[in-house]
Amino acid sequence: MVWTPNSPYNDLPDLPPPIDVESKRILKQVAEARAALASLDQAARRIPNPRVLLNSIPLLEAQASSEIENIVTTADELFAADQLDEDSTRPEAKEALRYRVALLDGVRRVRDRPLSATTLITICSTLQAREMRVRDLPGTFIGNPATREAIYTPPDGQRLLMERLDAWARFVHTSTALDPLVVMALAHYQFEAINPFSDGNGRTGRIVNILLLIDRGLLSEPILYLSRYIVQNKAEYYRLLLAVTAEAAWEDWVEFMLEGIRQTALSTIEKIDDIQALYREMQGELRAVLPSGANADLLDVLFEQPYCRITTVMERCDVTRPTATKWLKILTEAEVLISVKAGRSLVFINRTFFSLLTRAERAPEPAPTLF
Ligand SMILES: Nc1ncnc2c1ncn2[C@@H]1O[C@H](COP(=O)(O)OP(=O)(O)OP(=O)(O)O)[C@@H](O)[C@H]1O
Ligand SMILES: [Mg+2]
Repeated sequence: MVWTPNSPYNDLPDLPPPIDVESKRILKQVAEARAALASLDQAARRIPNPRVLLNSIPLLEAQASSEIENIVTTADELFAADQLDEDSTRPEAKEALRYRVALLDGVRRVRDRPLSATTLITICSTLQAREMRVRDLPGTFIGNPATREAIYTPPDGQRLLMERLDAWARFVHTSTALDPLVVMALAHYQFEAINPFSDGNGRTGRIVNILLLIDRGLLSEPILYLSRYIVQNKAEYYRLLLAVTAEAAWEDWVEFMLEGIRQTALSTIEKIDDIQALYREMQGELRAVLPSGANADLLDVLFEQPYCRITTVMERCDVTRPTATKWLKILTEAEVLISVKAGRSLVFINRTFFSLLTRAERAPEPAPTLF
């Protein structure tokens, strides 16, 4: 049966595609993307305190990935929400914070069991804060909800969807002849085309991208900030997904994803390098203004979250309230931190780190010319 936008695509073929997607051109791009990713992984391993990256990069990823779904929140709001009291947090920020929880949970899962339909369901449930099941009712489509005009209608029926997901997982585990980055690109399309949930398919799929890289040992921690590229190229992302279905345009799609991995890995490395440089600079500043013997963990606290509280310092540095208060006061006076009132307590912001994390990215380097 031919595919049409309006009817459920129950004939969606399982992976792999019937053509050889690893053309010479693609393999060249694979090499570039793998090199960038390997450098990113090394850069991350050089960071003495992994918590510095593990709090912040997944949160930036959460913000960007949620933005694709028009859950609009800023990184500023999220960093604040992460530290401040929950009552004042907007639902959008809460939802984006759950993305980070789902991502980090997913990482834990993938470390000790293979990716499966169950993993996908768990991730989507965490994102949505309710128990998600594979769609049972028809009527899901991608398109304009107001006019009900469909661009793509995914397959229907719980049993069929489960079969497709199981086939998806089998492909992910058995496709050892293909490069893992190509597997990631193919699997992402396939998962989105199955679109098994009533909502959250995009975000679940974007989390799974990262999990796949970790599963294949190409990344040790979830610090690839890939959704930034997707949100920046959203129209292209949608167009290329559709072109796979409508025209079997696999190569363009795979190329798009490989370029995303390459660009994002390089820009994330820059961020990590900048974080490290700032860390060293602040190490000097802290030494200069604080009494000698101030706890070495203090610097880490200031980099694990751009926002901190007196109690964070007390707990992490194992010091009394007066000591923690004194240190933070000195650092505020030295303009290393700024303090703001949050309800009845004070929060301290590592201003420079905060602007480093939230600043707009520099324009990515163009890809090398392909021959
Ligand atoms: N033509 C298409 N074919 C297959 N999948 C598509 C197509 N167009 C969009 N998609 C995928 O469907 C996702 C949207 O599905 P859904 O609303 O369930 O996910 P979400 O996580 O709530 O939203 P979003 O991805 O916008 O954040 C898109 O992000 C994209 O990954
Ligand atoms: Mg949605």
